[in-house]
Amino acid sequence: MLTVKGLNTEYPSQKGPPVKAAQDVTFEVPAGKFFTLLGPSGCGKTTTLRSIAGLERPVGGEIVVNGRTVYSSEKKIFIPPNQRNFGMVFQSYAIWPHMTVFANAAFPLEVRKTKMTAQEIREKVMRVLSAVALEQYADREATKLSGGQQQRLALARALVMEPELLLLDEPLSNLDAKLRDRMRFELKRIQRELGLTTIYVTHDQGEALALSHEIAVMNEGRIVQVGTPREIYEHPRTKFVADFIGTTNFIDGTVLGMDTATGRWNVRTPAGDMLVHAVQTLAPNMAVTVSIRPEDVEVFEEAAPAGSGLNTTSGMVDQKVFLGDFVDFQIKIGEFTLLSRAHPSMRTPIGDKIHVRMNPEKCVAIPDISSARNAA
Ligand SMILES: Nc1ncnc2c1ncn2[C@@H]1O[C@H](COP(=O)(O)OP(=O)(O)OP(=O)(O)O)[C@@H](O)[C@H]1O
Ligand SMILES: [Mg+2]
Repeated sequence: MLTVKGLNTEYPSQKGPPVKAAQDVTFEVPAGKFFTLLGPSGCGKTTTLRSIAGLERPVGGEIVVNGRTVYSSEKKIFIPPNQRNFGMVFQSYAIWPHMTVFANAAFPLEVRKTKMTAQEIREKVMRVLSAVALEQYADREATKLSGGQQQRLALARALVMEPELLLLDEPLSNLDAKLRDRMRFELKRIQRELGLTTIYVTHDQGEALALSHEIAVMNEGRIVQVGTPREIYEHPRTKFVADFIGTTNFIDGTVLGMDTATGRWNVRTPAGDMLVHAVQTLAPNMAVTVSIRPEDVEVFEEAAPAGSGLNTTSGMVDQKVFLGDFVDFQIKIGEFTLLSRAHPSMRTPIGDKIHVRMNPEKCVAIPDISSARNAA
């Protein structure tokens, strides 16, 4: 298990104050779980990972792995990276040229001055090479592998030490879309089979959702939300998270009050009054943004079956795009344009009336920061 508490890491800058790359980063990863740091370029993901590895020296905080403190500003502890026993695959993975696949994978064991016999090393290396499906290439020169195979070799080299913690920084970034999908499955399988506690860094939200037990969304050096993929996707706490994790409709509104029949908050918006789900506490007159995913905007040609407590309205088809598996509708409701992702069997032509239904559970009201502050 990994605990990161109040981690701060800075870089000196030529002029002016230092760059605060990781600020008050706090999270916990139970043993055997797959945890992802997700966020836009420059938000501090690599910095956080390198701080855990010991490749950067933080200015404050604490890092504990399986009960062993590897960094603590308070206790003045800093265990050097080569004594942490973590496996790491870097953003730009590096395999050693002029060495065979086998020699590359065996390298961490050879340099670790262990008392392992050549036979023991051979067994360990072949086990990890077969885990990443490279055993048949063991004797080939490493540079004569495809990009995807080289990336798997980098992973094998990180696995061979049987690390307490596996740190992966965008390990699939150099692969084409198809290979990336396949490697994703493979990575997940290896992680599960070996029960490896894994910290994964990516700016690809699809990858994060597909692989992780838990995701920490980062922005400007800070973690802004931690949760399961489903929690993060369905109940984002901020506009940033809602926007970063996939496509969403943002509808500005004002809280009218609590709807006593349903126990939901009622919000006045340009798309009509709607009942919403709220993660934070709301209050009448508060300015909020309602986030709803396009796939949660249901459309019907006939008046939508109302159902108790569901938001129903109607609009006009303004645009539509056929995408094979689904069809995207842009629907004008008064001045407001709502995006709906529907089944391809929906064929309502542009200019026709269309009925809309939204489950309040999927309409997430996020307080606007300034008004949330006023209400607090
Ligand atoms: N060696 C360095 N010296 C100075 N500033 C740095 C250094 N490395 C990173 N930074 C800065 O620290 C911040 C965080 O960088 P980091 O590499 O952690 O981002 P990231 O989230 O991994 O981004 P990406 O998705 O582009 O890899 C950025 O503002 C970056 O410019
Ligand atoms: Mg990075």
